[in-house]
Amino acid sequence: MARTANPFRPGFNAAPPAFVGRDRLLDAVREALAVAALDGRTPRPIVITGTRGVGKTVALGEAAVLAATDHGWPTVHVEVRPGRDFTPLLTERIVAAGHLLQHTTADDRRHPVVTGGRIGASALGVGGEVEVHLERREPGPADPLEAALRGTMRVAMAEGAGLVLTLDEVQYAQRAELAGLTAILQEHMADGWPLVVLVAGLPSIREPRRTVTYLERGEWHELGLLTRDEAEQALREPAADAGRPLEPDATRELATASGGYPYAVQLYGHHAWRASAGSDRILREHAVAALGAARRELEEGLYVARWNDASEREREYLGAVARVLARTGEATGGAVAAELGKAATEVSYLRDRLIKKGTLYTEGPRLLFITPGMAEWVAGR
Ligand SMILES: Nc1ncnc2c1ncn2[C@@H]1O[C@H](COP(=O)(O)OP(=O)(O)OP(=O)(O)O)[C@@H](O)[C@H]1O
Ligand SMILES: [Mg+2]
Repeated sequence: MARTANPFRPGFNAAPPAFVGRDRLLDAVREALAVAALDGRTPRPIVITGTRGVGKTVALGEAAVLAATDHGWPTVHVEVRPGRDFTPLLTERIVAAGHLLQHTTADDRRHPVVTGGRIGASALGVGGEVEVHLERREPGPADPLEAALRGTMRVAMAEGAGLVLTLDEVQYAQRAELAGLTAILQEHMADGWPLVVLVAGLPSIREPRRTVTYLERGEWHELGLLTRDEAEQALREPAADAGRPLEPDATRELATASGGYPYAVQLYGHHAWRASAGSDRILREHAVAALGAARRELEEGLYVARWNDASEREREYLGAVARVLARTGEATGGAVAAELGKAATEVSYLRDRLIKKGTLYTEGPRLLFITPGMAEWVAGR
């Protein structure tokens, strides 16, 4: 039997074969694109939050695909890196997008540009693929980012097109740098630029001190776990499309094991596909055979890395958070300190460090693990 490529994509930034359960967000993106393209208004930014591996980055990629297929618009994508300025790269890519707009037709730009590939500047059609010839810029506004954006929007409007800007991992952005970008965007809202801005980051960006007004006024979408039906759909469709359908009891087995966590859905699908090599269907026995390997990979990939990154004291703290969560479903800093037999002020530095490392996050007074499933894993150690 011919070997068929595994359709599942268990990897960060890897576009899933079936992007399910995010209709509200996709509708919002379509609406924002329509407002920008047809009404001559600049829509509010769309802000996507969620814990690790729920699909923020691939959602940005889907927005880029919609912009390309529905409107022939390019997308400029930038991932913020810890401790590094994002503005120079953003500026460069905005300039590159201007060149792309100038030298291509809307039809050239209609091909889906991200599906199936890694999301990245080149996959999005801007950056690596376009050769940038920087023209000598006339002396003008002192801010290079603003000048780049102005220039590219001028070209876009002349071409009857627009631009999508996606900024990922925004929790790493320095507040001042983010404020610099949003001040420009805010200032030009009134110009009615055909510009759609999407921003994605961990839930911590919701904290009042971390965000900036422009984003606060945006349209917020919190991505969570997939429902049972959605997880089954995300497993069933790719397998069927790739020519090796899942039996219903196999689908149920895998959906249950994944807990609806999108990254795990791909991982369990991937291992079940492998376990069923040579068969023309994926049976329950294949699914069951896949569970161990998939779970191990999930644990090693997601949890062990964070655990190893924690000091002895931090591990004690994580253990206490996990126990309190298991017992009461809710862990406040005070309850965790009590669990450790300490005063809250004695252990709050551990809490702060773990938040800074991206292992925990807060939602009001509650402490939560950033990686879905990690609380249960820690509690079971
Ligand atoms: N709606 C979905 N349906 C099916 N699979 C999905 C969906 N969303 C994401 N995935 C899968 O989940 C995994 C993680 O996606 P992604 O990298 O976009 O997460 P993320 O939220 O950006 O994570 P991080 O915070 O670590 O950057 C990928 O394997 C992707 O294919
Ligand atoms: Mg991501």
